[in-house]
Amino acid sequence: MRKLIVKLMVVQADTEFASIQQHRPWLDQAPTLEDRWIEARIVADEARHGLQACRILRDFGEEGQKFIDELLAKREGEHKLDAFNMKFDRWADVGAFTCFVDRVGVYQLRAFQECSYGPLARAMPLMLSEEQLHLNFGFSVLKRIVKDGAKYADSKALAQKAVQKWYPRALDMFGHSNSETSRKAIEMGLKRWTNEEARAKYLQEITPLVASIGLELPSPDFDRHVP
Ligand SMILES: [Fe+2]
Ligand SMILES: [Fe+2]
Repeated sequence: MRKLIVKLMVVQADTEFASIQQHRPWLDQAPTLEDRWIEARIVADEARHGLQACRILRDFGEEGQKFIDELLAKREGEHKLDAFNMKFDRWADVGAFTCFVDRVGVYQLRAFQECSYGPLARAMPLMLSEEQLHLNFGFSVLKRIVKDGAKYADSKALAQKAVQKWYPRALDMFGHSNSETSRKAIEMGLKRWTNEEARAKYLQEITPLVASIGLELPSPDFDRHVP
């Protein structure tokens, strides 16, 4: 169980630190003042989430500290999951990333709610409420671009392109359908859902949401790297 918690927290912290690197250029490039402020808040939240995951690692002594040192040394492009090695080339990428990728993060965190390891379970409520802001922001960015693309230096076609770019990477984040790690995590009471169950819930939520703003989702098999 100890090994598994360490493994899960290393991946968790890696995503938090990576997204800081991805958001960073937009702190002073986002189109409106409000957007810049929310970008700054997201960066602060992700730093806090990384810290929280590392605090759990720290409880495991030297072994945990070794992983923390490695995590802090990682540069852009060196992260574990593909979604966190891609750049935000335009504003629509910021919207699609927070709408699609942060939403997967919420499912991963919800899977840890009421988990059998106390320090992890107790970290969830605050992290979840902060993540909720991120994905609502992402949705509103995409919605604004679709409605009034020119004003935000992006257009509906670029928003659709961002959907094609981030949606497959978001679906990949749930992990392999027959993952041994996920099976073990459920057995030990660390997680509530298998990768496939979580992915199915996500699809149910995201499909009508994207349609409601006039964008289209590609098929769930499109451009997938992790089956
Ligand atoms: Fe986060
Ligand atoms: Fe987030």
